[in-house]
Amino acid sequence: ASTFDFIVVSNRLPVDRVVDADGAESWRTSPGGLVTALEPVMRGADGAWIGWAGSADLEIEPFDNDDMWIIPVPLSEDEIARYYEGFSNDTIWPLYHDVIAPPSYHREWWDSYVAVNRRFAEAAAAAASDGGTVWVQDYQLQLVPKMLRELRPDLTIGFFNHIPFPAYGIYSQLPWRRQIIEGLLGADVIGFQRVADAGNFSRAVRRLFGYETKGAAIQVPLDAALVSVTTDAAPVASKRGAPYRTVIARHFPISIDSKGYQALAQRPDIIARAKQIREELGNPETIMLGVDRLDYTKGIGHRLKAFGELLAQGKLAVEDVTLVQVASPSRERVETYRQLRDDIEQTVGRINGDFGTIGHTAIQYLHHGYPREEMAALYLAADVMLVTALRDGMNLVAKEYVAARYDNDGVLVLSEFAGASDELKQALKINPHDIEGMKSAILQAVHMTKAERGRRMRALRKRVMEYDVARWSASFLDELQRVRDQSPTIE
Ligand code: G6P
Repeated sequence: ASTFDFIVVSNRLPVDRVVDADGAESWRTSPGGLVTALEPVMRGADGAWIGWAGSADLEIEPFDNDDMWIIPVPLSEDEIARYYEGFSNDTIWPLYHDVIAPPSYHREWWDSYVAVNRRFAEAAAAAASDGGTVWVQDYQLQLVPKMLRELRPDLTIGFFNHIPFPAYGIYSQLPWRRQIIEGLLGADVIGFQRVADAGNFSRAVRRLFGYETKGAAIQVPLDAALVSVTTDAAPVASKRGAPYRTVIARHFPISIDSKGYQALAQRPDIIARAKQIREELGNPETIMLGVDRLDYTKGIGHRLKAFGELLAQGKLAVEDVTLVQVASPSRERVETYRQLRDDIEQTVGRINGDFGTIGHTAIQYLHHGYPREEMAALYLAADVMLVTALRDGMNLVAKEYVAARYDNDGVLVLSEFAGASDELKQALKINPHDIEGMKSAILQAVHMTKAERGRRMRALRKRVMEYDVARWSASFLDELQRVRDQSPTIE
């Protein structure tokens, strides 16, 4: 088997294997922002992507998928339950999103997380060429950098955390708080979405290990357990001949393929579909849109509460306004997600029952994922886009909406708790916990003049079109190269 100079490692492959009722197999694009962001990077790189194919016990040989070498890592049913649904999505996910839902701590989940992280590290160690670069993605694989460095000290290792990193007061709940940080410090560069996330991480490193930090640089002593576990750590220690390794921890806000999204939205068939969507909704004056994975971090319930109150108070009327809520199915076997689905669907039913009339439904609730084409048409049709996350690493939906609006129209209502808030300054900012504030912002959006909409959207578009995903990956990979080239000695 050949080896690769550039490897991406993430829990999910960019494609999931799906088998239909007749047993026919096909590959479908995976959900979530990570894949959306990295696909274009990988297509250009002629590299390999290591990840899970999305169902249990699949032993699939590596294969070529449009110039991208795919290396599947198998997970058993038990590992899906403990490593993926358990530790990743019922411990780390709620903890890192500021305990919006209470995290569960189970030692068997942790053991499974360690075992699966090792499997990913071993797959990367086997596939990487001499002196190659491996870019590890997200919270499911935080131990991989250290494990991989031990196996292959010759590699340059990057890690990017797509979700928030919490303040120490929250992070310190984690029974394995030291092991996770040691795992991450195996990387040369650790990327975060926001300045605040990188700051929280550096503070946790100082509190738990006492390592010195200078700006984005963390000085990791070479005799720390981290490196001494590599009994033959000579390549790291002697080549650099220094008491410290420098690890860079800083923000690299992720983005989307902005030009691609804009081009999609400009296609005549998509523009026609946007008009058709408006007609199918009964030509309301205002279409409001929410697009989220059905996740408790997204603030869907808060958004519905605000919308329901505006209808109840007669400040909005179903004859004039329709809310389209796309909620794509996610992590459906995790109890918190089941509960969320029940809650949201009950609320939608109640609002529609209370305020709907024959021919006018208040909320069009869609529990499906849609292809990019349909999403682009929905964005074009939406007069007001609601992003009301209680906590979100970035929120690429906000950027997709802006990229799609080549017509310089539409209003983005954006939670300050989404990473995108740092960049998208001309959005209408909200605190989703402040229901009155959210209601005012929604009304402001609905009544905004065309001139002001245009002014804001043009400014938003300037940012999103310029800082696209290619720029994100280039700045991360440039930093990785720089760290590798420079002497790590810090006296
Ligand atoms: C977020 C995470 C990704 C994850 C995606 C979908 O975007 O940052 O790592 O892949 O959600 O979630 P899932 O659990 O279905 O992979």
